[in-house]
Amino acid sequence: MLDQKTIDIIKSTVPVLEIHGKAITTRFYSNLFTKHPELLNIFNHANQKKGRQQTALANAVYAAAAHIDKLETILPAVKQIAQKHRSLGIKPEHYPIVGENLLIAIKEVLGDAATPEIIEAWGKAYGVIADAFIGVERDMYEEAEQQPGGWEGFRDFVVDRVEEESSVITSFYLKPADQKPIASYKPGQYISIKFQIEGEKYTHIRQYSLSDAPNEGYYRISVKKESLGEVPGKVSVHLHDHIEKESILQVSAPAGEFYLNENSTAPVVLLSGGVGQTPMVSMLNSLVKSNANRQVTFIHAAIDSKHHAFKDHVRKITDEHETIKSYVVYEKPLEQDKNQESYDKEGFVNEEWLKELAPDPKAEYYFCGPVPFMKAVYRILTNLNVPESQIHFEFFGPAEELTEPEVVNA
Ligand SMILES: Cc1cc2nc3c(=O)[nH]c(=O)nc-3n(C[C@H](O)[C@H](O)[C@H](O)COP(=O)(O)OP(=O)(O)OC[C@H]3O[C@@H](n4cnc5c(N)ncnc54)[C@H](O)[C@@H]3O)c2cc1C
Ligand code: HEM
Repeated sequence: MLDQKTIDIIKSTVPVLEIHGKAITTRFYSNLFTKHPELLNIFNHANQKKGRQQTALANAVYAAAAHIDKLETILPAVKQIAQKHRSLGIKPEHYPIVGENLLIAIKEVLGDAATPEIIEAWGKAYGVIADAFIGVERDMYEEAEQQPGGWEGFRDFVVDRVEEESSVITSFYLKPADQKPIASYKPGQYISIKFQIEGEKYTHIRQYSLSDAPNEGYYRISVKKESLGEVPGKVSVHLHDHIEKESILQVSAPAGEFYLNENSTAPVVLLSGGVGQTPMVSMLNSLVKSNANRQVTFIHAAIDSKHHAFKDHVRKITDEHETIKSYVVYEKPLEQDKNQESYDKEGFVNEEWLKELAPDPKAEYYFCGPVPFMKAVYRILTNLNVPESQIHFEFFGPAEELTEPEVVNA
């Protein structure tokens, strides 16, 4: 337990951290990777370049500092981060390295303002925060390994089948190379995959949501080729261009705190934008498979029919089940889409439309997609007075604040 004086110092330095937090974490990462280049095998280089990870870590540190005397109140946030850490293979021995470099960065950025007393207080607080993470992660490692079909770290899987789902999204069916059982998962969870790409100095680890209902035979991931940005996406382009039937992939046991509450009987609304559809299709398929008989509204936003994955699959399910309805919104429908009336709305999901499609106040909402889509959906649900306990979402990158206005080119 921390003494009151340390708690007071930590709490009084939170505003300072809020001003310098990003500068501190940026400096921290630069020092960390200079001294420990081997950590570049685990960290996502693109997130570093775009500053997303810096912001995520800074936010986590503020939250922890602000709640240092009652860390249990931020347990849900700790668990979400710890799941990602566990799937990446972050171990207790990594924590002192991070702690030491964080303190050095605080000293470097704050200069004389970082008195020995402040540095000592932060050293102690980091110890408490790190212990909380290590404890939560220890339980997660145990569970991942000891569950039926579970394993430690990364396990070899063979690509059994590759299927094109749209002009940019392809599914990969993965079976364990040792042909032994595989751990089940909750619909909505993801796996981490570690890639050793030819010509690359470091390994690259990425998360992919499992896109089918849990089953005994395989994991399915569905990946969007990120080739349109200034810098092509390293792993997704590699997956699309070089991974084929019989390729071997290194896979972590399923992880994540975003999953369908299968104990509930409340109506479910599954909302997705683009490749954010993958966890929603897993949930949809699971609802069908378990014969749950819940009211399901599946709403998907895509650019147009060419970019629309799982189109026929979802349509078939809705045709066969009275309790399941699906709606499609195209941002820029093609001429042929207009002729075929293959969508329900042009443009974006809006409040009026959602209210019409999902009027039940007890409905549980799950959503995933590009950050602007997620911010819009969250704003709409808040305006419709949907309680926080009925709202669940996943980021396909480090978690962000959904209430902050969208910054263009951030
Ligand atoms: C929980 C979770 C689940 C996910 N599930 C899925 C899923 O089901 N399907 C799926 O397709 N993806 C999913 N993702 C995203 C996935 O993990 C990868 O982030 C995605 O495939 C892109 O990885 P990449 O290596 O191709 O791109 P990266 O190389 O990581 O680059 C990411 C983006 O940044 C841009 N970029 C890279 N470097 C720079 C730079 N220097 N300056 C500016 N921009 C740059 C790239 O153009 C690209 O658009 C998920 C992520 C998470 C966290
Ligand atoms: C108390 C200490 C720590 C805190 C508060 C923390 C916080 C975070 C947060 C907020 C994220 C983003 C999670 C998300 O939303 O997806 C994250 C991800 C991550 N963390 Fe930590 N972390 C800590 C310790 C560590 C340590 C010791 C390591 C290993 C050296 C580590 C490695 C990573 C990696 C590799 C990611 C994935 C992010 C990426 O590559 O983009 N973290 N952490």
